[in-house]
Amino acid sequence: MLENLNKEILSFKETAIMEIANFGRNHEHTTGQKIYPAWFGEGDTSTSKLICNKTVEALNTGKTFYTYQNGTPELRIQVAQYMNEVFDINTKPENHSVVSGGMMGLRLVCDLIVDADDEVVLVGPVWPNIRSSVLLKKGNIKEISLKLSDGEWKIDFNNLLNSITSKTKMLFINSPGNPTGWMIKKEQQDLLLKHTRKHGCWLVSDEVYHQITFNGLAAPSFLQLSKPNDRLIIINSASKSFDMTGWRIGWITHPEELGQHIAKLVQITTTGVPEFLQIGFMAALENYKSITNKLRQSLKKSRDLMFDRLRTWDQVECSIPDAAFYAFFKVRDMDNSLDYAKKLIVETNVGVAPGIAFGVSGEGHIRICFAAKEKFIIDVMDRLEPVLNKK
Ligand SMILES: Cc1ncc(COP(=O)(O)O)c(C=O)c1O
Repeated sequence: MLENLNKEILSFKETAIMEIANFGRNHEHTTGQKIYPAWFGEGDTSTSKLICNKTVEALNTGKTFYTYQNGTPELRIQVAQYMNEVFDINTKPENHSVVSGGMMGLRLVCDLIVDADDEVVLVGPVWPNIRSSVLLKKGNIKEISLKLSDGEWKIDFNNLLNSITSKTKMLFINSPGNPTGWMIKKEQQDLLLKHTRKHGCWLVSDEVYHQITFNGLAAPSFLQLSKPNDRLIIINSASKSFDMTGWRIGWITHPEELGQHIAKLVQITTTGVPEFLQIGFMAALENYKSITNKLRQSLKKSRDLMFDRLRTWDQVECSIPDAAFYAFFKVRDMDNSLDYAKKLIVETNVGVAPGIAFGVSGEGHIRICFAAKEKFIIDVMDRLEPVLNKK
């Protein structure tokens, strides 16, 4: 029966993150042992009451109908205000389209740009769904890998620049990066933007972690350097900055003329983000300063709690991230991260994401999400220490 399905879908494998989560859940079920799940990229705090209350109120006042494909005019005005304030830029509501999450943004952008056999340059290790979105469109990925050296994730920048040629259809950058926390420098953004302008390729920048930084400032955006006609698209999300992973809201910032094409794609996928959710998200944007300040403070504490120990462990080589909420580290003499992650579940009951999930350059590493309460982090570290801190 199944051989009659779409070949592309049939050939697609579950990501190694899902594989390990299923393995861990199954282990919990069969052994009755509690598993500490740190495999996914989300915090453990539910959305603020302020946002929820606005949403419930909207539901109760009949905001239950089809709505605008690119987001309501009111929300697009507010997204533009938010972006202009955070990045000191000058975008218009027409430059922003609200979509059903950053993930949907990525898929729509790949639908818009990538044809079969198009070359897509990306920086890895990178969140697996990005790679899958390109592969689903039959694009060819050319990956330039970050390297962990002297406690820092570094890129061979000339190699990245030289890999972008007139054959490149799209350059994909995720900064702050999942899983590494790598942040591209402003000068590098400038050079890349000029280079993609020269070659006419699209620059797609995933900035969903722009608020999750530990230096008090939003991470630099390509938008701060761009001109209105640049082939530049930014992917953003309510998930990480506002504890709204389950809401499925994100937004794409794009040249104005792309709006109508995005609207067509939204029409034939989700037909738009439910209006009551858009109203709730407006409450998040209205209060972004207090919400994100609180989040950053708590994440910084969690990061320090984890890294004060992790960086001293014998089997670990790591970089202390200035952004995002992951510890992505090399485990000495380990070359099969999926098997290793399974072993950690069985021996320590801690569920981590295997590095191979983020591409070949991620092999030999594991990722732990530190967006969690103090007690959870201490429990996880206590359990991992005997394995990762042995001579
Ligand atoms: C780099 C990156 N981009 C995009 C997303 C998608 O976020 P969402 O679909 O929850 O908005 C994620 C989620 O983990 C991510 O890590």
